[in-house]
Amino acid sequence: MKSQAWSRAGVTAVVDSLLTVLLAMLNIPVLVLWVIGLLFSPVPVLGMALLTVATVVVRWRAGRERVHAGRVGVLIRQPYSPPPANAEIDSRRRLTWIITDPATWRDVSWLLPGALVGLVLGLIAVAIPLYGLCGVLLLPLWLFLGDVPFGYGLFWPITNTAEAWLALPQGLVVLAAGLAVAPLLRTTDVLFARLFLAPTAAAELRFRVQHLTTTRADAIDAQAAELRRIERDLHDGAQARLVSVGMTIGLAERLVRRDPTAALQLLAEARESSTAALVELRHLVRGIHPPVLAERGLEGAVRALAMSLPVRTAVTSELPGRLDTPVESAIYFAVAEALANMSRHSRARTAWVTIRHDQGVLLVGIGDDGVGGADPERGTGLTGITRRLGAFDGTMALSSPRGGPTVVTMEVPCVLSSPRI
Ligand SMILES: Nc1ncnc2c1ncn2[C@@H]1O[C@H](COP(=O)(O)OP(=O)(O)OP(=O)(O)O)[C@@H](O)[C@H]1O
Ligand SMILES: [Mg+2]
Repeated sequence: MKSQAWSRAGVTAVVDSLLTVLLAMLNIPVLVLWVIGLLFSPVPVLGMALLTVATVVVRWRAGRERVHAGRVGVLIRQPYSPPPANAEIDSRRRLTWIITDPATWRDVSWLLPGALVGLVLGLIAVAIPLYGLCGVLLLPLWLFLGDVPFGYGLFWPITNTAEAWLALPQGLVVLAAGLAVAPLLRTTDVLFARLFLAPTAAAELRFRVQHLTTTRADAIDAQAAELRRIERDLHDGAQARLVSVGMTIGLAERLVRRDPTAALQLLAEARESSTAALVELRHLVRGIHPPVLAERGLEGAVRALAMSLPVRTAVTSELPGRLDTPVESAIYFAVAEALANMSRHSRARTAWVTIRHDQGVLLVGIGDDGVGGADPERGTGLTGITRRLGAFDGTMALSSPRGGPTVVTMEVPCVLSSPRI
């Protein structure tokens, strides 16, 4: 079993190395095109057109290499700065953006060394197993033809059947060695490309700042929207009721001597209104930070939520501690939205929630066996989850093919603050 996996990895690496050789050969014409583009750049229209094509081709080639690296599990992220506004429309601005991006020049500087390293390592990775294969095939060829005009390994040329037989073990050894070495050569080539094609530390930092700026803006927007909602809820709900309580009591005051029965009735109405206002205030508080969350933590609050649903929902949780309050609250509301979607849209018979914390990341999954076809474009709830979690560097992934099932996965990097008592 193990040897099967090992040889499969070897064969894949050899095939990939063949592709590496072909791609590496492309580097040279791409480099030539870039140089031509640069040389002609002062020429008014032609220069710009050539340079635009050249930069697109360079980026395409570098992109192919990143994808090719991904096949051996080495992730090379895009290092480019984001385009300026209107870059799509204004071609001169777009070109300036590409040319002044240091990542473009790093792509270009990789083309030649990348071609050399790719060619050498790729050819070695392909040649060794190929030579091994020749050894394996030599015996049937000898037996078929009765003679071959060439040799193999230790015997050169082959003069008798015994030597032809001995080519077989030699071929097998070379083939095995080739399959063993090919993945190493592939990885070496990819790591070399990564030196040039991955973002530099400065670029990583720039991306991080951009990401933080976006998520901070989202967080501020979300806060502002939340404040507006609370303000509206207070204004239209409890505040309106308290105003009416005040007016009813005032009326009762005026009536108390003249018509005590009517005054008593008004006071009863006022009491009812004040009870309703209290209920509304409780609901509002629950919407800001549900008491059950404060008392029982995420797991308890999600269990309570699941129990209140019409669909049978199993909750599995492995959380050996408490989360920080803001993260806990964000996750709770995200789970609440996903579960609300499940009961509103999915027509599911059963649903499940899993919560666990692994290597500094909180992983929450919400799934149902309903009709599927969830689409963040059709509402505000799912995008709201993404924005809510984004403020904590978290992410949401959605899988919901038509016919179901729907699975929402949330990941938020966070620490468990204190162990549960
Ligand atoms: N679990 C689910 N199963 C099937 N469809 C779903 C599910 N969750 C969401 N959807 C679909 O995806 C759409 C988008 O969901 P989203 O939560 O963003 O919006 P919404 O629930 O329609 O409205 P709101 O903005 O009030 O949340 C829904 O309109 C619904 O059609
Ligand atoms: Mg929704």
